[in-house]
Amino acid sequence: MRIAVPKETQPGERRVALVPESVKRLVKKGFTIEVEAGAGREAGFLDAAYAEAGATVTNDRQTLLGTADVVFKVNAPDEDQLAAMREGTGLIGFIRPLVDGETVRKLAGRKLTTFAMELVPRTTLAQSMDALSSMATVGGYKAVLLAAQALPRFFPMLTTAAGTVAPAKVLVLGAGVAGLQAIATARRLGAMVEAFDQRPATKEQVESLGAKFVEVPPDDGEQAETAGGYAKELSEDYKRRQAELIKQRIGRADVVITTALIPGKPAPRLIPADMVAGMAPGSVIVDLAAEMGGNCELTKPGEIATSPNGVTIIGLLNLPATMPAHASQMYSRNVEKLFMHLAAPEGFKLDRAEAITQGCLLTHAGEVVHESVKAIAGEATSHA
Ligand code: NAI
Repeated sequence: MRIAVPKETQPGERRVALVPESVKRLVKKGFTIEVEAGAGREAGFLDAAYAEAGATVTNDRQTLLGTADVVFKVNAPDEDQLAAMREGTGLIGFIRPLVDGETVRKLAGRKLTTFAMELVPRTTLAQSMDALSSMATVGGYKAVLLAAQALPRFFPMLTTAAGTVAPAKVLVLGAGVAGLQAIATARRLGAMVEAFDQRPATKEQVESLGAKFVEVPPDDGEQAETAGGYAKELSEDYKRRQAELIKQRIGRADVVITTALIPGKPAPRLIPADMVAGMAPGSVIVDLAAEMGGNCELTKPGEIATSPNGVTIIGLLNLPATMPAHASQMYSRNVEKLFMHLAAPEGFKLDRAEAITQGCLLTHAGEVVHESVKAIAGEATSHA
C-alpha cells in the first residue's frame, strides 16, 4: 500500500499527520510512504528526516495524492486535495463528522474510504489510537500556560523577603481528558485547583491530582453520562443548581479553564455574562470549548477578548497546533496504530463486524456508512 502524507493547508495548522519515527516503522513493515515537501517543517520534522526514515519526499502534490492508496491527514482534505484523490482511496484524519455534514457528504461523493479519528471508540483496546485524548492532553496543558501568561499574578505561593504571595485559585469546569491535564498542569505550577464535572465518576480522578471536586449531584435516577462514557444533556433543574454552584466558585477564582463538551452538540453555556461581571479584574478565562461556541457567553472563538470589568477571555482555537512537535508525535502514533489495526498488505480489511472498524468507518463506496453520522450528513445534502 502507498501511504501519502500531504502538507496541511488549514490556516494556522502546524501539525503533520505522520512523523519520521512512524515512517521508519511502517516502511519496515513493507509500506511505501510519500511525503509532500515541507509537510513536517512547522512541527520541526524536516524533509531530510523523512527521507532518512525511508519516505520519498515530493513537491508534486497532484501525483502524491493521485497515486496513493491511503492518505494520512490531520484535518479533512481541502477542495484541491479532494479533487486530486482517486475514487476508492483510503483517508484517515480528523473530519469533524458530527458537526460538518457537508464535508462528510463530499468525502462520500468522492467515494473515499474514510476513517474518522474522532469516531475511534474510547475503549481500552483502542486507547493507543485515541487521538481525541492526545489532542485534549495538549490543549489542557496549553490552556493553563496561556492563563498563567495572561494572569497578572503568580500561580504558586511564594514566601519572599517582600512578603508572602498567595497561590492562584484555578477552577476547571469539565474534567475529561483536557480538564484533567489542565488540573495536573495548574497543580504543577503551584495553584490551588477546584474542578467540577457533571459525571460523578470524575471525582476520584480530580482528587487523585490534588484538586478539590465541587459536586452537584445529578437528579434522582438521572444518568449524567451515556453508555459510551460521554456527558449527556441534563435537566433544567440540574442546570440551575449547577449554575448556582459555579457562580459561587467563580467569584473567587483567578483563572477558570472550561472544557465542557457534549459530542455533536453546541457547548453547554456554563458561564453567562453576569458571572463574568462578578469576577475580579485581571482574572482569566480560557475557553477550550470555543470551537463548539464556548462555555462562556462572552467567548469570541479565535480571539482574546476583555470583558467590561477587565476579565481576559481566551477563546483561541486549535491549541494543539501551537505545540506541533509533540502534538504531531502523539497524533502520528495514534494514526499509525489505527492504520496497522485496519490494514491488510493489499488494502483495508474492512471487517465491519469488528468494533474499531465499525466505530470509525465513516464513508465507503459512495455512502456514509456510520450510523450516527448518517442523519447529519443527510441534512447537509438536503441543504446543499
Ligand atoms: P469531552 O471532551 O467530550 O468533554 C469534556 C468533559 O466535559 C467531560 O468530562 C464531560 O463530562 C464534561 N461536561 C460536559 N458537559 C458538562 C456540563 N454541563 N457541566 C460539567 N461538565 C460537563 O470528554 P473527553 O475528555 O473526550 O472524555 C469523554 C469520555 O471518554 C470520558 O468518560 C473519558 O473518561 C472517556 N475516555 C475513555 C478512554 C478509554 O477508556 N480509553 C480514553 C479517553 C476518554
